[in-house]
Amino acid sequence: MTVREFCLRILESGDLEAKLAPPPPEISDEAPGPALRIDRPARAPGLRLRSGAGPLPRLRELEREEARAVTLARFAHHELMAVELFAWALLRWPEMPAALRRGFLLTLVEEQAHLRLYLERLAELGQKLEDHALSDYFWKLAPKIDAHPAGPRAFLAAMGLTLEQANLDFSLLYRDAFAQVGDVATAAVLERVHDDEVGHVKLAAVWIRRLSGGKSDLEAYLEAVPHPLCAARAKARKFSAESRRLAGLSEEMIAHVRDARPR
Ligand SMILES: [Fe+2]
Ligand SMILES: [Fe+2]
Repeated sequence: MTVREFCLRILESGDLEAKLAPPPPEISDEAPGPALRIDRPARAPGLRLRSGAGPLPRLRELEREEARAVTLARFAHHELMAVELFAWALLRWPEMPAALRRGFLLTLVEEQAHLRLYLERLAELGQKLEDHALSDYFWKLAPKIDAHPAGPRAFLAAMGLTLEQANLDFSLLYRDAFAQVGDVATAAVLERVHDDEVGHVKLAAVWIRRLSGGKSDLEAYLEAVPHPLCAARAKARKFSAESRRLAGLSEEMIAHVRDARPR
């Protein structure tokens, strides 16, 4: 199997089984083929994307099982969209350096693992992803990333340095909130997601610098981040500078994001 075939299987199969299946160990990426633009992923009827979703339950509502299920479904769906969007990026830019393509594939596999872990927690509550409204939020960004002149750097800025950077904060915030209501199993999943996310943000930080001819991470980010994303979207209300340092972000970048206000 090639990376191209693996990514096509994820985007052209609607069922979760196919989207969760890991690549075979001997997968090859020697001939990535021509660039391919996929507008929307195939989704089984129960997983259909809709425009928008309700607000996430408040942290103090997590005492209630239903609020925990809604939150877990939301996080699981973020992971599913991350799986699909890394597949999308691998198909969209076959010309990316081989080491970056390998990094994207490894990240995709970790997103599959996160999705599986959230689905297991959700199943523990007697629910599945299909029981919940699934917002197309990340997929709405794909055309904006696609149209941006920065190409793969726009993807690194959007996915790695905005959505995943924000998840450094969100994962810790929710780890503590789930632990507080006694759901230690979910808290452990969120900690694992956080620790992997540090690596995903690091991959984006390393490569956006490399592909921007020696610019700083902040300069490269500001040049490549596609509207409507911006630094104010790269964080949650509890800001972890420590996680960002672990991910190798510069102090300049960390301060910029910390101080960013919505436009
Ligand atoms: Fe993830
Ligand atoms: Fe990630």
